[in-house]
Amino acid sequence: MRSIHIGMLGLGNVGQGVLRILDENGPAICDRIGARPVIKQILVRDLDKQRELDVDPALLTTDPAAVLEDHEIRVVVELIGGIDPARSFVRRALEAGKHVVTANKALLAEQGEALFRLARRQGLDINFEGSVAGGIPVLRALREGLASDRIDQIVGIVNGTSNYILDAMARGGMPYAEALTAAQDAGFAEADPTLDVEGGDAAHKLALLALVGVGVRVDPALIHTEGITRVRPFDIRCAAELGYVIKSLAIADFRGERPILRVHPTFVPRDHVLAGVHGAYNAVEVSSRALGQSMYYGRGAGMMPTGVAVVSDIIEVCRDIVGFSEGGPPPGAFREIRDVEPGPLDPLECENYLCVHVPNVPGVLGEVASSLGRHGVSIKRMNQDTPSRGEAIDMVIVTERTSDAKVRAALTELDAFEFTLEPTHRFRILEPEAE
Ligand code: NDP
Ligand code: HSE
Repeated sequence: MRSIHIGMLGLGNVGQGVLRILDENGPAICDRIGARPVIKQILVRDLDKQRELDVDPALLTTDPAAVLEDHEIRVVVELIGGIDPARSFVRRALEAGKHVVTANKALLAEQGEALFRLARRQGLDINFEGSVAGGIPVLRALREGLASDRIDQIVGIVNGTSNYILDAMARGGMPYAEALTAAQDAGFAEADPTLDVEGGDAAHKLALLALVGVGVRVDPALIHTEGITRVRPFDIRCAAELGYVIKSLAIADFRGERPILRVHPTFVPRDHVLAGVHGAYNAVEVSSRALGQSMYYGRGAGMMPTGVAVVSDIIEVCRDIVGFSEGGPPPGAFREIRDVEPGPLDPLECENYLCVHVPNVPGVLGEVASSLGRHGVSIKRMNQDTPSRGEAIDMVIVTERTSDAKVRAALTELDAFEFTLEPTHRFRILEPEAE
């Protein structure tokens, strides 16, 4: 059987998953391709590092040229992460005529355009299934399964680390820092976990879902992004009492002239399907015109799930090599990609949870209610603990469905009152699922 030589950049969590899957499922993989994918060289930073996997030391190198300039290597698998040096390595691989497989959402969401253009010019593939939702083949579903439909909306839990942390805080009462450390130990978190907990990683993934789903390129820096770091145990408790679970959602709405994209912690009704997504699992719900709702669910992070996505991409590229159909469909799934600036959140309407921190003195409740009323924000329900007079209280308010612009204007006024003790905590509430 013919061999196809593969070079890897990086042998961390995902890289080791790739080796294990190639090893464990080798015969079936060869059978699917009609050729044997052979790992020829692996770039790492530290040759002496203790790894979970026993790897032949002869495969390891610290010299990028050993992968990028080896003429036998046809496919380069980039699993280093981050922008640099990953970007220059991927560029060098493409310039040298090598196909690329990567799970690097930061690189593709921020710098993908130039790399995709180079790949097209060179007639090469860039496959990136592992970059969104780990092992769930959601990009393939958008690129192939839904290619005939028009996508209206995507709502997803796409960051395993954030979901793991919120879930551990809500279900086990685990402190935030402990939950983050557990996610890091399990290999879910990014090298810089700020990307996970501040929503940047989910924004990268949302930009890639928009690219593959509807063919628009959105600068992730323009996506409205809020992290889970502002979710307090108090908010989680209040959510539970009100019948909700807090989830970090990535939401794209393509129905208007400009798409509206956002990432933020959201109150999800307890009986909503997304409320049942636990641990580092991900779920992406797609609404498309003809099919209606479809849901893609599974393990969204970690060594083996992401390894599956990366190896499936390797299989696809190798099949193209064997079938002489290299550089077939464009990497972003569309021939024409439109650059778009996302629309503002102003007209979006939803109910909101507000927690206003104020002293327990006469007149304060009236001021808060009047301020909301002046801005057209109607109160659906209100709750507060009853401390001694003069002590600070957390006034918990659920608003009626109101536009984002009105709520923001009301909060600007509320937070400027002299009596307001800290900025109001506000979370958007997801609409219940349509029957
Ligand atoms: P790790 O940090 O575990 O591994 C990174 C690997 O790259 C290590 O082997 C490291 O070498 C090597 N490396 C880093 N910098 C350099 C450099 N400058 N030169 C040479 N080698 C370098 O990352 P992950 O495996 O977790 O993630 C890899 C990619 O996959 C990232 O883009 C990430 O966003 C993405 N991803 C990760 C998922 C996960 O669950 N972890 C899920 C989906 C996508 P050494 O081992 O010697 O230190
Ligand atoms: N850090 C990412 C997450 C890895 O937690 O979802 C998967 O992309």
